[in-house]
Amino acid sequence: MHVVVYTTATRAASAAASLVIGHLSRKPELVVGLPTGNTPIPMYRALVRAHVNGRADFSRATTFNLDEFVGLGKGDAGSYHSFMASHLFDHVNLARGRAHVLDGRAADWREEIAAYERRIRRSGGLDLAVLGIGGNGHLGFNEPAEALEAQTHRVTLRPETRRANAQLFGGRWQAVPTHALSMGIGTILRARSVVLLATGPAKARIVARALSGRVSTRVPASLLQAHPDVVVVLDRDAAAALPARRF
Ligand code: PGA
Repeated sequence: MHVVVYTTATRAASAAASLVIGHLSRKPELVVGLPTGNTPIPMYRALVRAHVNGRADFSRATTFNLDEFVGLGKGDAGSYHSFMASHLFDHVNLARGRAHVLDGRAADWREEIAAYERRIRRSGGLDLAVLGIGGNGHLGFNEPAEALEAQTHRVTLRPETRRANAQLFGGRWQAVPTHALSMGIGTILRARSVVLLATGPAKARIVARALSGRVSTRVPASLLQAHPDVVVVLDRDAAAALPARRF
């Protein structure tokens, strides 16, 4: 793993955006997995700015978001559909038909997850997965567990994950859906390249565990240690608990 540390969260987010732009300019038909959450917001801001300045062309790209809440979909407040529309999709020249987000309102969720997996496969798999990390080590909504699902699946959210998402639901964690659909850990790990972005002191402990601890499904992000092409982009706060040899 290649770990890069920046002085501020904004700088780290801009660096992650630059990595995405680099991939996009080397391969305009990039197939990229995208995260939601607070951490990537400044990264999306940097991507939108780059697009406005003519430095990022999404016209041939395909995106697959990592996850969505069960019960929520396009136009629903609190959905990751809405998050992506307001932070990226409404501001760049990405074809809407190639911007994929799991539909948490699908009448048949089994068909929805199977179709998502098929669409990813037909697109040739992910060239790049851009990831955040949950405070509990989750990737997408692959929550810590004794065993993980390789394929896109339906998941029960852990209480700490529902609390972490309360902000999207008026600060009420009880209003956060109990289930989600998530890209599987196998689908994520098959991405040819990975960029993991983590910022802020609340991530320091889990970043250290994921990057320098043992590989375990109890810390899903630790599985990235086995991936051949990972860039971890951190700010100083998120890097604070890493062993010194990492610098
Ligand atoms: P956060 O979420 O950026 O809001 O901390 C990250 C994640 O859960 O993957």
